[in-house]
Amino acid sequence: MTILDGKQTANDIKTELAVRVDQLILQGKRSPHLAAVLVGNDGASLTYVGSKVRSCERIGYESTLIQLPEETTEAELLQQIDRLNANAAVDGFIVQLPLPKHIDEEKVLMAIDPDKDVDGFHPTNFGKMALDMESFIPATPYGIMELLRRYQIDISGKHAVVIGRSHIVGRPMSILLSRKSSPGNATVTLTHSRTKNLAAITKEADIVVSALGVPNFLKGNMVKKGAIIIDVGITRVPDSSHPKGYVITGDVDYERVKEKASFITPVPGGVGPMTIAMLLQNTYLAYSRHADV
Ligand code: GUN
Repeated sequence: MTILDGKQTANDIKTELAVRVDQLILQGKRSPHLAAVLVGNDGASLTYVGSKVRSCERIGYESTLIQLPEETTEAELLQQIDRLNANAAVDGFIVQLPLPKHIDEEKVLMAIDPDKDVDGFHPTNFGKMALDMESFIPATPYGIMELLRRYQIDISGKHAVVIGRSHIVGRPMSILLSRKSSPGNATVTLTHSRTKNLAAITKEADIVVSALGVPNFLKGNMVKKGAIIIDVGITRVPDSSHPKGYVITGDVDYERVKEKASFITPVPGGVGPMTIAMLLQNTYLAYSRHADV
């Protein structure tokens, strides 16, 4: 069994990007610039956006964090997005999800200039991805594909089972796994809350990607021997023995499932760090499309 070390792989990617930034600076060019908009005070979102900004600093990117109060109106947020769309010094930006309930997420995502949509959530980018055209690919599924690529895991012709059909992870994951590329060419089953007899399906899988958000959901008896297991879950489970008062827990019953898996991602240190690395990669792509590099 091999542990897919997302932390190390993400560090490798960040180091590669940092080298490119150093070269840009030596050439007298500016560095890539990522902005993040955060509305409200959701603890997990604050942590994720903080990590994204810190990672920018570490590799020499410019970063801007725009923190707006919970009461921000939809119109105010849309105005902020217009300003970022128009700001030539910003290569790409993200609006951290989830948004407060009074704001229409779809309207907000549609307002982002597709050329700056480094999350890859705009229909233009999502459509291009589905059609094998160059686009920004959502960072979490992109990170999983990159992890498979760097560990040279061949999934061609294999049965991949994705659990969860979210727009951010499950749905794009199912598209990427089935794409005619490497890694890719998998036969994909996309499962969700209405799927009947899920365990019978996961037991047939050569690769399982779980993006459900239910701690320890995937048990040892739900996977086949030799399966590749990718855990996207990052639920905060209350734990008074931990200084933070919670532990980050994945969808996979790691201790049991690792006994059967050929490859497995840990939580934390698996998919999570890869998401940030690929966001930085997308920001570099946004930069290089219009900067002369
Ligand atoms: N919320 C959870 N994951 C993500 C992500 O990748 N991007 C944004 N913008 N919000 C998220």
